[in-house]
Amino acid sequence: MESREHWSSRIGLILAMAGNAVGLGNFLRFPTQAAQNGGGAFMIPYMIAMLLIAIPLMWTEWAIGRYGGAKGHGTTPAIFRLLWKNPISKYIGVLGLFVPFVVLCYYIYIESWTLGYSFYALLGLLPHPDPSLTQSEFLKPFENLLREYTKPSVTAYIFFLITVAFNGFILYRGISGGIEKFAKIAMPTLFILALFLMVRVILIETPHGTAVQGLDFLWHPNLSELSNPKVWLAAAGQVFFTLSLGFGAIITYASYIKKDDDIVASGLSAASLNELAEVILGGSIAIPAAVAFFGVINATSVASSGAFNLAFVTLPALFSQLTGGDILGFFWFFLLFFAGATSSVAITMPIVAFLEDEFGLSRKIAVTVTVIFTFLVAQIPIFMPKALDEMDFWAGTFFVVLFALLEVVVFFWLFGGERAWEEINRGALFKVPKLFYYILKYVTPLSLFAILSAWTLSQLPQKLVTGDFQVWAARFVMIFILALQAFMVYLADRRRRNEG
Ligand code: PHE
Ligand code: NA
Repeated sequence: MESREHWSSRIGLILAMAGNAVGLGNFLRFPTQAAQNGGGAFMIPYMIAMLLIAIPLMWTEWAIGRYGGAKGHGTTPAIFRLLWKNPISKYIGVLGLFVPFVVLCYYIYIESWTLGYSFYALLGLLPHPDPSLTQSEFLKPFENLLREYTKPSVTAYIFFLITVAFNGFILYRGISGGIEKFAKIAMPTLFILALFLMVRVILIETPHGTAVQGLDFLWHPNLSELSNPKVWLAAAGQVFFTLSLGFGAIITYASYIKKDDDIVASGLSAASLNELAEVILGGSIAIPAAVAFFGVINATSVASSGAFNLAFVTLPALFSQLTGGDILGFFWFFLLFFAGATSSVAITMPIVAFLEDEFGLSRKIAVTVTVIFTFLVAQIPIFMPKALDEMDFWAGTFFVVLFALLEVVVFFWLFGGERAWEEINRGALFKVPKLFYYILKYVTPLSLFAILSAWTLSQLPQKLVTGDFQVWAARFVMIFILALQAFMVYLADRRRRNEG
């Protein structure tokens, strides 16, 4: 067996993992979720979910990945088989291919909008309406542009192709030569742009309001909201999404860590960078800017108009009123593009690694095949917006939690709690406090089970009765992907046994 690729430095690994985690979720999803779910009070369930589910799960995924990588495998069908010697285990692991691939197929399309809008801003092609118009008149051209763009327009399609090619190019150059190098450029750039925008936004004052009022609005704690289970589910969902947990993406990245390298401290560093980018930077740009522009009275409706509206309508509209607005708009969209690109390569990697590790394809062929498949399946969410939502619900919300639960059960119960604990702590400068052993063995799986049950009871029935053509197209494609991946896992297993 040829030796497996590795990250070339610890800082490179941490930046790549931070790049994996820091994404559109930090700058768009977090502030809208917080504003809709209790404001400052949202941080209480958020922190609890972080401590009891996310951080323990993060170490679990790093450990599972490093363990598999040392044995030549970077994806869960093969790794679960190593951890639990039951033929079923490899099929459970299929979720570690299914979830990232389905999410990739729409995530990369939305990512491509941010690239398209970066160019629009840079070339001065975003609208510049007259500031004396009423607020709703002022927003119109931006709303129209977004509607035209996402139809999709030819421009949108071209930027989609560019984005897919760009992702392919990074992956083509490999782990240390591509992903790690890119993260070393993209992550510092992203942090500087976000810091700059944060400072600029805080200084905004308009006749309607100020950004400081926006911070008050976002962080004002509505403690009464905490009795609403919806708030707790939203917090748990956000924590999952933002740390890329349950997507298989961390496991594959971790499979390129050397066998005895520290994962406890590196994992915590990457997660901290994500939280910095989320709570501090993500919380201080979009919502405060929107409040300064619309006033506190309208802020609730802005927050509930959704993350896309905030990113592609409200913010560029606001920037267009400031001096140097086109450059600010460019910074904003380019920041989102770097955040998105370092995440989309991460969700592409499981498929690439699967083809390399289990079928012996060369990296370049594996990347080419994966990019072609992504391009083909992405046509569904591109041309059918309701299909996009359906894919997001199943892969991005439901199966991630189910898969996370299965990961913990396989590692801590079937592989064995003591062995799993040793795997996490091997090579660690500071061992994880033993309290987390009990959290991981009991609290994390039970909490995940509770979340899954709550979701199943509250959302699944209504989800299943609705469904027009687009929704069914999405379901059909997802079932096809799942079946294809399961069949490939079967072939890979047979191939390995023939060789072995
Ligand atoms: N964590 C990313 C975000 O916050 C999303 C993502 C999920 C990226 C899973 C990769 C894998 O936007
Ligand atoms: Na994130």
